[in-house]
Amino acid sequence: MQTNTVIIGLQWGDEGKGKIVDILCEDYQRVVRYQGGHNAGHTLIMDGKKFVLRLIPSGIFREHIKCLLGQGVVIQPTALQEEIEELKSHGVDLDGRLGISPACHLILPYHIALDQAREAAKGGKAIGTTGRGIGPCYEDKVGRRGIRTADLAHPDILKDKCVQIAKYHQVQLAAFGLELPMTADELFDYLNSFAEMILPRLCDVPIDLMQVHAAGGAVLFEGAQGCLLDINIGTYPFVTSSSTTAASASIGSGVGPAFLHEVIGIVKAYTTRVGAGIFPTELKDDTGRKLQELGHELGSVTGRERRCGWLDCVALRRAIISNSVETFVLTKVDVLDSFEDILICDAYDIDGEIMTIAPTDTALLERAKPIYTTIKGWQTDTTALKTFSELPENLKNYISILEEKLGVPALSISVGPDRNQIIEMPDDFIIIDEEDSAQTYS
Ligand code: IMP
Repeated sequence: MQTNTVIIGLQWGDEGKGKIVDILCEDYQRVVRYQGGHNAGHTLIMDGKKFVLRLIPSGIFREHIKCLLGQGVVIQPTALQEEIEELKSHGVDLDGRLGISPACHLILPYHIALDQAREAAKGGKAIGTTGRGIGPCYEDKVGRRGIRTADLAHPDILKDKCVQIAKYHQVQLAAFGLELPMTADELFDYLNSFAEMILPRLCDVPIDLMQVHAAGGAVLFEGAQGCLLDINIGTYPFVTSSSTTAASASIGSGVGPAFLHEVIGIVKAYTTRVGAGIFPTELKDDTGRKLQELGHELGSVTGRERRCGWLDCVALRRAIISNSVETFVLTKVDVLDSFEDILICDAYDIDGEIMTIAPTDTALLERAKPIYTTIKGWQTDTTALKTFSELPENLKNYISILEEKLGVPALSISVGPDRNQIIEMPDDFIIIDEEDSAQTYS
């Protein structure tokens, strides 16, 4: 039996999961998205060509893989249609390769209008959502009035649900002085127009996964957003509306937790965040701007500038605990190539108390003062390097210090956006003594 693996971002998203899923999935038969929607933007660069996937799993470029959208995913049908068309225009064969759970909830024009109206009304206190209707769609799911993909097969049920949900959202939108963007009848016609795209792709996801695994195949679960945006353990209320932790791979795809065998965390070598919310290591200075510029830190979905800061081991430790992370991939290492000194946050000082694992009480987090360890930079271009032995010594030190601080080993490091810019870590990589190579200050 092969190993079923969960790939999860350990920061506030945009860790480079898409590229890593694309590389790792070669040995898997299924890639499954299990939460979030088209608020995600997974960027892949192949032979210099850039693709941004929002809903369709990043395994779609490997012909032997079938990609699945599990029951925890919310689908905006127009976005899915556009993505399918775009992939087809690039010669990607989707026939029989994209399966959709009958229990996925659909993002309606009402949700998008409500998401945007709420954000606008909050002014300076806005969450900075992607404006894609994600939150309101999950609200309707939990409120038990949502419309699911399977409903498209039952026009009578769909019609009734459209009437009910239109009534509900008429009231919601009226509170912001808005009218429904489409009537219940128009909504019914709009949704029906996607039946041809969705119904033939409906798939009993857990049964398919069990069968694949029973036949000796393996499944890769592709997390979206990042663990610190999780609705439960994230920096609430500045979070997304789904659970982004590894446990969600079970709930969001419909398999039991024992089906998940290992969790690989993706860690960007520095930290970024899009939208508002606590960010203890944020750099609002030239160093932050340098990270932003060198890392091309612009949101792949909304085009917004990402806030940048140093790597935060305190937040990462919380993410590692909450996700049973056994190993990690370090991405965008090349962005640090030119830095003389590289800082890593090792603890928070919160009202005089030193904390090495981030608290989930956001009021406390607001007062966290980062305590940093400084590491000598390697000041070498790493983008063309292929093997571990070629890495500059200071970079090897940096990786080993991170392993020690996080308590888990690195699997590989990524030194550029292309599929080929990845360096595997040797099994016998020895952790060095941190005291010799780093100094700590606050
Ligand atoms: P929502 O998911 O659109 O409701 O946005 C809630 C928060 O999550 C906002 O701060 C967004 O910027 C953030 N967010 C949502 N999706 C992503 C993502 O894929 N990458 C990074 N941040 C995201």
